[in-house]
Amino acid sequence: MIGRLNHIAIAVPDLAKAAARYRDLLGASVGPLQTLPEHGVTVAFVDTGNGMVELMEPLGDNSPIAGFLAKSPGGGMHHICFEVPDISAAVATLVGGGARVLGDGVPKTGAHGRPVVFLHPKDFDGTLIELEEF
Ligand code: CO
Repeated sequence: MIGRLNHIAIAVPDLAKAAARYRDLLGASVGPLQTLPEHGVTVAFVDTGNGMVELMEPLGDNSPIAGFLAKSPGGGMHHICFEVPDISAAVATLVGGGARVLGDGVPKTGAHGRPVVFLHPKDFDGTLIELEEF
């Protein structure tokens, strides 16, 4: 069902510093900082050629990653994202197999403008998985 790994998302306490480290120390290609108020994050994408690393900093009072950074103030890996060709079919298969989709299970428009869902980390070895229709 899943296709390529689209991105690995890392929650960071200071996006400008994190982006500079990837660019200057790792020599990576880092895109511009993008403010996404509707998602409660500011992000920058690192293009690794075979996928992306999404650096995310909380934005606003109700950021979905504020709780994560409260528990891990130094930052850490937040989720991994796989591409799927048909997200509704993927959700049906997953729910039929006993996996839990977070929220109401209806795909939302994600940070990249495509339909996404998130799967319960307890069903996947402690890892939050995002599926993105691509
Ligand atoms: Co993501």
